[in-house]
Amino acid sequence: MPTAIERNDFFDKNQDRFLDSLIEWLEIPSISALSEHKGDVQLAADWVRKKLVEIGFPQAATISTERHPLVYAEWQVDKNQPTLLIYGHYDVQPVDPIDEWDSPPFQPTIRDGNIYCRGASDDKAQIMLVLAALEAWVKIDGALPINIKILLEGEEEAGGESIAKYVPENPELLRADAVLICDTHMVHPQQPSLVNGLRGILYTEIALSGAKTDLHSGSYGGVAPNPIHALCVLISRLKSEDGVIHIPELAAAIPTPPASEKLFWQDDPLNIEEALRTEMGVQELVGEKEYSPLERIGLRPTLEVHGIRGGFTAEGAKTVIPAAALAKISLRLPAGLDPNEVFGWLEKAVHQNMPAGYSIKVTNLHAGKGFYIHPDNNYIRAAAEALKLVYGTTPVFMREGGSIPIASLFDETLKVPVVLMGFGLPDDTIHAPNEKFSIDQFRKGMKTVADFLGRLKND
Ligand code: BES
Ligand code: MN
Ligand code: MN
Repeated sequence: MPTAIERNDFFDKNQDRFLDSLIEWLEIPSISALSEHKGDVQLAADWVRKKLVEIGFPQAATISTERHPLVYAEWQVDKNQPTLLIYGHYDVQPVDPIDEWDSPPFQPTIRDGNIYCRGASDDKAQIMLVLAALEAWVKIDGALPINIKILLEGEEEAGGESIAKYVPENPELLRADAVLICDTHMVHPQQPSLVNGLRGILYTEIALSGAKTDLHSGSYGGVAPNPIHALCVLISRLKSEDGVIHIPELAAAIPTPPASEKLFWQDDPLNIEEALRTEMGVQELVGEKEYSPLERIGLRPTLEVHGIRGGFTAEGAKTVIPAAALAKISLRLPAGLDPNEVFGWLEKAVHQNMPAGYSIKVTNLHAGKGFYIHPDNNYIRAAAEALKLVYGTTPVFMREGGSIPIASLFDETLKVPVVLMGFGLPDDTIHAPNEKFSIDQFRKGMKTVADFLGRLKND
């Protein structure tokens, strides 16, 4: 077995090469949501398939789907060793607002120990560090310590329908003893953490119409329906100023967290409340005051308006009463709830709270389940020990407010532990301008994953 020293030496010697490789991959603008980037998504898939072949994977293929390709690779080393399935996504978010970027979004730029580029933290560097860890084993030891399967997708940021279809259709191919996902962040550069829960998501669109055409606000103001106003009334009824969501079935379905987790959230020993204020640049946190901020992010549901369209917002003034308005609204949901069932509850609440005189259409754009894992299993213990070795600190368990719907699908289909060990940092600004990944985390991540793999090997 390679020692940590041999491996560190390997990572030291090859650091620049791994970084150059990452840069090449980051330069491909694999934005899954935008059809004009379809070719780039394919290029990014081909790029990583080739990388897997170079590492030595005897089987590595791109699998076409209705939308963007999956990449699948497998290396069976010994049937007496466990099999780990590794998941990641090589697609990235769109880049707007582009003017807010300090360097062009697809020109990877190194500043202050970070690499800035769209997709750096979410999720290309996190996949690259796993590939570097695998390569270290192959080059130093001559073989991987355990059997590895890799499944990468190219449409995670755009709903992930293709993989959601593929996984339940291929349980035998994907069969493994555990799953590793590096697509989350740690609480702090000096405080490693593992994610034991993710929220699910329900993303909807609410369209309202009033009069048959736009109207003059002088001639009709006072009698005309205003869909933008009605939308605002509706939204404030669905979630009041105190952050409480008024969907009775939802309120009744929220699970109670384990007492130990609740205590950890209340005590907030890492002072994450303060960190959240700093990250966001705000004086005060909003939301349900009777729950601690960590519970509000980890377990409580949200109802957020992402955008409202309608009426007049161009330069100058125009006295119009709009005929229609539209809002994009999503809910984050704790594990255990079925987002499609929640959609029914939402629809009902919308109809009950809707001001009279409008026609309304509520659409479910996509839905993904949340995830919870009890940390008491050998794979998570191995991950915790690897993190402790590299960071010198025992990791904490955290619930992540974001969603990785495939985690719950792996859980349901394969029924094995899913390890969420990510190396992003809270200030990586994923999905936003100036996304970055810390080069120190890149290196520590490689070491941690390499060590984790070694711990899974049977004697
Ligand atoms: N990697 C993120 C999930 C995440 C977000 C982890 C924040 C840690 C912190 C993932 O790529 C993502 O963006 N998920 C989407 C899911 C949605 C599009 C179904 C999300 O959470 O909005
Ligand atoms: Mn991601
Ligand atoms: Mn993302």
